Amino acid sequence: MRIGVYGGTFDPPHMGHLTAAVAAARLLGLEKLIFIPAGIPPHKELANQTPDAQHRLAMVRLMAEQAAVETKIDVSVSTVEIEREGRSYTVDTLRGLRGEYQSDELWLLMGTDMFLTFQNWRAPEEILSMCGICAFGRSESDTEELFAVQRQYLAQRFPNARITTLTLPNVVEVSSTQLRAELSANGIARELLPTVQGYILRAGLYGTECDLKQLPLEKLRPAALSFLHAKRVPHVLGTEETAVKLAERYGADVEQARVAALLHDCTKRLSMEDQLALCELYGIELDELERETAKLLHAKTGAVLARDLFGVNDAVYAAISWHTTGKAGMTTLEKVLYLADYIEPTRDFEGVERLREAVWRDLDEGLLLGLTMTVEEMRGKGYVIHPNTLGAIESLRG
Ligand SMILES: [Fe+2]
Ligand SMILES: [Fe+2]
Repeated sequence: MRIGVYGGTFDPPHMGHLTAAVAAARLLGLEKLIFIPAGIPPHKELANQTPDAQHRLAMVRLMAEQAAVETKIDVSVSTVEIEREGRSYTVDTLRGLRGEYQSDELWLLMGTDMFLTFQNWRAPEEILSMCGICAFGRSESDTEELFAVQRQYLAQRFPNARITTLTLPNVVEVSSTQLRAELSANGIARELLPTVQGYILRAGLYGTECDLKQLPLEKLRPAALSFLHAKRVPHVLGTEETAVKLAERYGADVEQARVAALLHDCTKRLSMEDQLALCELYGIELDELERETAKLLHAKTGAVLARDLFGVNDAVYAAISWHTTGKAGMTTLEKVLYLADYIEPTRDFEGVERLREAVWRDLDEGLLLGLTMTVEEMRGKGYVIHPNTLGAIESLRG
């Protein structure tokens, strides 16, 4: 197996890291990629606003999920350098990896600066005996010429080295220093993955302390997305887009529909155990069916988290609460969220086009069809139907 190893302080992880990792994975034909956030890097002192290692680790994990979605290979995050006592050297990390992946091919990924000073690292010869190095130029100024000189020099000094250099087209230059300055000034930086941006806002990192209950949309959106697994982000953005259109068409409050859509699945990735703990914490009463079904539970816990953390109002709270089962006598906003979740653009199931047509023809006609389709599908799988779903159907027929 060909494995890429990408270490760094990731303070914070940004689009420059992500695009480089994804491009390198494709060009090298990697089958696995391991991000390794550094503990205390030997070559530089951390900036004074650097969040503690656990926050950097959490942000790198968000980036890794996105890298996995984009490359479709296994991407993991190693805590080995964060957990190591004292100063951390790449050679130590590679010794560990070499032991773990004895018959695999390792490639160490690095940016220009690292590549150009490689001969000054601790034990460069030993590093090169354990892995190939792949350097990528991330900016216009990282010319192939510069790479060629260093490549030649290293090849002479370490004759058995495997060295590849890539100039990645269309990769924007990102300066972490600049990015941190932008964050502390505006709370927002363009070159961040939305989930990472949201994580920074929620944790108040880099001087971004803000009131989560008063977030403008440009901050609320990433904050909401930061709860999600990367693979669910397109679904939630699709739900937002559809909810806004449905609200405009059928006269629901557009901003409430947007907020409800952005937050509707915010607890979806939590384990059953964590969901139940949230219910306990907030005193949410559950019926027997909800107690056993994570899919039903995330609507209740999502609503409570949206209210507690982001201060959503009762209408939004209710819309999130009922987005999986529906119920008798739903408000327009509740119908809008239920259906936006069902028909947003990334949904692709048999009958979705018929459902979309019905929803745009008449909201209640669409809702009745959606509920009926759910019931049929669940009966087909032998699941118990929640009484609120049956109640919703009955009230629409009545
Ligand atoms: Fe959901
Ligand atoms: Fe959803």
